[in-house]
Amino acid sequence: MAKPTKRRDRGVASSSAAAQNRKQPDASTEQDVLSDSTSDRKLILIFVVFFVLSPAIAVLVYLKYAPVTETPSSSARGGGFVKTDVTYQEVLADNSRVFENASRRNFGNPVLAYITPWNSKGCEIAKRFNSKFTHLSPVWYELKSQGSSLTLDGRHNADAEWISELRTKGDALVLPRVVLEALPTELLRKKKQRAKAIQLIVTECEEMGYDGIVLESWSRWAAYGILHDPDLRTMALQFIQELGRALHSASLERNVGQKLQLVYVIGPPRSKELEMHDFGPADLQSLDGAVDGFSLMTYDFSGPNNPGPNAPLKWIHSVMRLLLGSGGDKGLAHKVFVGLNFYGNDFDLSGGGGAITGADYLSLLEKHSPLLRWENNSEEHFFAYTDQNNAKHAVFYPSLMSIFLRLEEARYWGGGISIWELGQGLDYFYDLL
Ligand SMILES: *[C@@H]1O[C@H](CO)[C@@H](O)[C@H](O)[C@H]1NC(C)=O
Ligand SMILES: *[C@@H]1O[C@H](CO)[C@@H](O)[C@H](O)[C@H]1NC(C)=O
Repeated sequence: MAKPTKRRDRGVASSSAAAQNRKQPDASTEQDVLSDSTSDRKLILIFVVFFVLSPAIAVLVYLKYAPVTETPSSSARGGGFVKTDVTYQEVLADNSRVFENASRRNFGNPVLAYITPWNSKGCEIAKRFNSKFTHLSPVWYELKSQGSSLTLDGRHNADAEWISELRTKGDALVLPRVVLEALPTELLRKKKQRAKAIQLIVTECEEMGYDGIVLESWSRWAAYGILHDPDLRTMALQFIQELGRALHSASLERNVGQKLQLVYVIGPPRSKELEMHDFGPADLQSLDGAVDGFSLMTYDFSGPNNPGPNAPLKWIHSVMRLLLGSGGDKGLAHKVFVGLNFYGNDFDLSGGGGAITGADYLSLLEKHSPLLRWENNSEEHFFAYTDQNNAKHAVFYPSLMSIFLRLEEARYWGGGISIWELGQGLDYFYDLL
């Protein structure tokens, strides 16, 4: 499954010096939660090990730097649906019902939502809840090397009819995602290649009537080692600036007053000690003028090798603090789209498992009638079940409560949110937006 970037290797840095003075978080939460209905000591042990010990760096960061927040037990959304003690029956009964006015926004800050061509439900949701989104990003394009030249692949994915329907329903900007797959050293070192890349992107926006693009390149550059070379790293930032300037000096016939926009995808730094390949606060500052928004991938904290919550709230807080400073730079904060996963994970605790969609989640609830638990440390819901081969699983999937708290977190900073991705959520999630 493609996410803006796959980050399954969060544990990599755990052998560094930081791991030695790691703080042991309080394990009692998981133990209490688990022991009230299951006395399976092995499961408890696995949870303690996975929750507490393996994501050492991130846990260290979030425990050390995050304030203790009070968890509200329910919130504004009508009928008391937003709560920690939700049951699987309630989720099954309510998830497809939309209680609020689908055209009224409850979250006032920018909302960017990704749509994937392989999940048609996302296209439907984008139309149905159109007014709730300010930016829609269909995942359509790749900029590739072809011999010594470049091509922009993906127009075959583009759905002009869908875009014109969107435009009759609301004002959301349409910014297709472009992944920069071209060989980075060629691209960054050669002026002609950079100019060509920029021209391909701007021309595509003009011809197709897009409002700009969402660019993903940082993770690729990191993978190619580009970001460890100070000169190349500088060129990489300059390329983004050049692209931003080119987009800003173009506009569409449809709306001459409005410049094309550039949203840039960034990953959360792995620790407080920034490394060369991390996108840090100085990078954020340096791109401020050229970039209209930063899509921050605050998810995939856990993976099959270290099962656990997808995006612990304190970790999100610590990432925002690291990027914006403890006071929070309000000017920059309104450009940051805090990432929210609308997918979940079904982890096999003996190893493996992976992402699930809302539909998968609902069928697991139907099949296993599980007790949904609220995990206080990460502020996410989860449940455990045993499959037909007697393997234990832990399932983390967003809930109204977990989403509500993350929207509050984005509000606290004055930031927006970015959703990966629309087709994977449950319909009633959109009531909160
Ligand atoms: C829903 O909200 C929109 C925007 O605030 C408003 O114009 C419309 O009248 C509302 N519809 C209903 C049925 O309340
Ligand atoms: C989780 O936190 C809430 C509020 O802080 C508290 O009332 C509740 O007892 C805690 N639950 C567990 C299992 O620790």
